Amino acid sequence: MRWTLDTINWDAFDASKVDPGLLSAVKAAALVEFNAPDYVTYLCNVFSDRPEMKADFRLWGAEEEQHGRALAKWAKLADPSFDFDDAFARFRKMQNIEIGAVASIRGSRAGEMVARCVVESGTSSFYTAIKDATEEPCLKQVATYLAADEFAHYRLFYQTLKVFAAKEPISPVNRMKIAISRLNEADDDELAGAFYCANHSAESSIPYDRGRFANAYFREALGVYRRQHIDRVVAMVLKAGGFAPHGWLSDRLCRVVWWMWTRRLAQLNAVA
Ligand SMILES: [Fe+2]
Ligand SMILES: [Fe+2]
Repeated sequence: MRWTLDTINWDAFDASKVDPGLLSAVKAAALVEFNAPDYVTYLCNVFSDRPEMKADFRLWGAEEEQHGRALAKWAKLADPSFDFDDAFARFRKMQNIEIGAVASIRGSRAGEMVARCVVESGTSSFYTAIKDATEEPCLKQVATYLAADEFAHYRLFYQTLKVFAAKEPISPVNRMKIAISRLNEADDDELAGAFYCANHSAESSIPYDRGRFANAYFREALGVYRRQHIDRVVAMVLKAGGFAPHGWLSDRLCRVVWWMWTRRLAQLNAVA
C-alpha cells in the first residue's frame, strides 16, 4: 500500500467547504469501492492458473477497500448521520457479482482486462476531477491518493492485457465492443443502488428506482468533470482499445464525448 488512512491529515477538515451534491456521490462511491473483494474472488478464479497474478489482484482489492474506508471516513466527517455499515449491508443485498464464474464473462482474459482498464479509467478521472473541483482540504487529499492508486491499477491491468493479448489476440473492434458494453453497465444497479443506499436510510419512505437514482448519481458525478478530465479518460479507453491515445481520432472523439457529456448533464439538471 502506498498510503494508509493515517496518512490523511483529518484535522484539516473544513465543514464549510463541503458541497452537498458531491458528498452524496462520495457516499455512493464509498460503497462501490468497499465491495471490491467479490471482484478479487472473480479475478482469482478467472486467472486460477496464474498464482503470481493473484497476489497483484489481492493487493488491488485491498487498495479498493481502503478507498471505500477513506471515502466513508470523510463522508462521516461531513455528515455524522451517515451510517456506512448499514448502507453497505443494504447495498450488498442488491448486488449480484458472478463470483462463481471460472471464465471471464468478457469472453477472454484479455477482454476481461479491457473491461478492468475501462473501470480504472473512470475511477482515476473521477477522483482527479474531484481533487481539482473540491475546496475541502481532506477530500482533496483523499482524492489525490485515490487518483494515483487508480492510475496504478490501470497500469497493472493494461500490462496484463498486453501479456494476454499476445497469446489470445483480440481485435480493436472486439476490444471497443467490450469497452462500450462495460461503459453501458454504468447504468445498471451498481451505481444507482449505491447512491440510493448511501443517501436513503432503511426507514426511508422513498422506494428504490434504478432510473431515478442512476440519474441522481450521474448528475453529481458528471458535473465534477472538466474538459481535461474527459480528454484523459478518452485517451485511456482508446489505449485499452488498441488505438493511439492521442492524435486525429482522439481529438475528434474528445470533442464528441465532451459535447455528449455536457448535453446529458444539462438534461439531468433540467429534470432535477
Ligand atoms: Fe478505487
Ligand atoms: Fe482501482
